Amino acid sequence: MRKTPRLRPIRSAAASRATNFTVQTNFVIQLADIHKIYRTGEVDVHAVRGVSLDIAPGEFVAIMGSSGSGKSTLMNMIGCLDRPTNGSYFLDGLDVSTLDRDARAKIRNDKIGFVFQGFNLLSRTTAQENVEMPMLYNHHRVSSTEQKERAAKSLELVGLADRADHKPNQLSGGQQQRVAIARALVNQPSLLLADEPTGNLDSQTSIEIMGVFQKLNDAGITIIMVTHELDVARYTKRMIILRDGKVLTDEKVADRLNAEVELKKLRQAQEAVKLA
Ligand SMILES: Nc1ncnc2c1ncn2[C@@H]1O[C@H](COP(=O)(O)OP(=O)(O)OP(=O)(O)O)[C@@H](O)[C@H]1O
Ligand SMILES: [Mg+2]
Repeated sequence: MRKTPRLRPIRSAAASRATNFTVQTNFVIQLADIHKIYRTGEVDVHAVRGVSLDIAPGEFVAIMGSSGSGKSTLMNMIGCLDRPTNGSYFLDGLDVSTLDRDARAKIRNDKIGFVFQGFNLLSRTTAQENVEMPMLYNHHRVSSTEQKERAAKSLELVGLADRADHKPNQLSGGQQQRVAIARALVNQPSLLLADEPTGNLDSQTSIEIMGVFQKLNDAGITIIMVTHELDVARYTKRMIILRDGKVLTDEKVADRLNAEVELKKLRQAQEAVKLA
């Protein structure tokens, strides 16, 4: 990937296509008039229709909207899993909208951690080994001692140091999601993307996962999370609602919830019920 030393303002996607240049920016993500059209057979599906967004380091963003509104499509482009049909995308100041598959894979490995609804852990492998996995694909060589250390540290960060030797079927849903988060963190990404991370979890476990995210976000990691649940979105700092592939609203979260406080209240309520 070629980086030009000169700093330039953001230009159109067509102009940037020629160079893949970098710009100095205060944003982790800059999307300008992004479109995605799926061309499958007879009909084209215009899934994202002109989204422009700036996301600064340290933000914690919820993307909401009804089914089919384009949330996953947008996340796939932000995560460099897919390319926009039109529009420009700068990630950490680098034009990534026109990169090919291999270049995007490298960027993903360097900069982005993913967490999915279904955890996507390898079932016959321990938590520790699952977390080590992304380092096997890291093009910066990581020694096996460092792999072990980094994986252990990631598991510690999500409160699972004592479960490192457990396989997924020996862990609760919330613990499995924590392993997935530890795995997403192990290459030290600047951006964590989560598509419905609490979709398979009960409400208390969902708050626990939001607690992990809030802690990571407090430590400086930028997080973008798709969720259907308003209750979950209230733990973030900014809420973007999509409708028909466009941004309907984009607002700061008023009365943001703190996971630790909410969990404490929940435990007190459970105690009260037990004593009654
Ligand atoms: N690979 C694809 N090929 C063709 N059409 C697609 C593809 N992926 C998504 N779509 C279509 O694009 C639109 C947006 O889909 P997307 O998956 O982004 O929605 P979503 O907001 O994530 O929905 P959900 O809440 O159900 O996950 C939908 O109409 C969907 O059918
Ligand atoms: Mg989706």
